[in-house]
Amino acid sequence: MEKTYLMVKPDGVQRGLVGEIVARFEKKGFQLVGAKLMSVSKETAEQHYAEHKERPFFGELVDFITSSPVFAMVWEGENVIATARQMMGATNPKDAAPGTIRGDFGVTVGKNIIHGSDSPESAEREIAIFFKEEELTTYNKQINEWVY
Ligand code: TYD
Ligand code: MG
Repeated sequence: MEKTYLMVKPDGVQRGLVGEIVARFEKKGFQLVGAKLMSVSKETAEQHYAEHKERPFFGELVDFITSSPVFAMVWEGENVIATARQMMGATNPKDAAPGTIRGDFGVTVGKNIIHGSDSPESAEREIAIFFKEEELTTYNKQINEWVY
């Protein structure tokens, strides 16, 4: 089953949106296979966002993600990578549709509440950055019979 890395960013944690965000993915039918509230080191933040190293916002992005704890998660389900991105909404909350997480709760691109992997390669890379294999769980297939 496909897995993705989702992370409630410091703004989402500070604003008390963890439960709301977890609930959306649970209600959709996806399964939480790993989760933890954690502080992100500068090194981990730079590794996670390495693709943006040369962008002008990189320094601020790393400062933001390391400023306060994040809620790191791994979710599992059919097409979970692309569907979670749709549920998150556009990167800039001003362009994110109502009904999406960023559309409903965010205002500016610098504080857009949530991260989600954008491809299978990113998902595998990001899950490995934030979680050890033994921190992830697996579910009995029968649990899924009313979703699939
Ligand atoms: P990006 O990977 O393009 O977006 P997404 O989170 O939707 O995959 O950018 C990573 C983060 O960098 C983004 O969530 C917020 C921040 N960012 C800015 O602060 N300014 C910007 O102009 C962009 C494009 C991103
Ligand atoms: Mg991205």
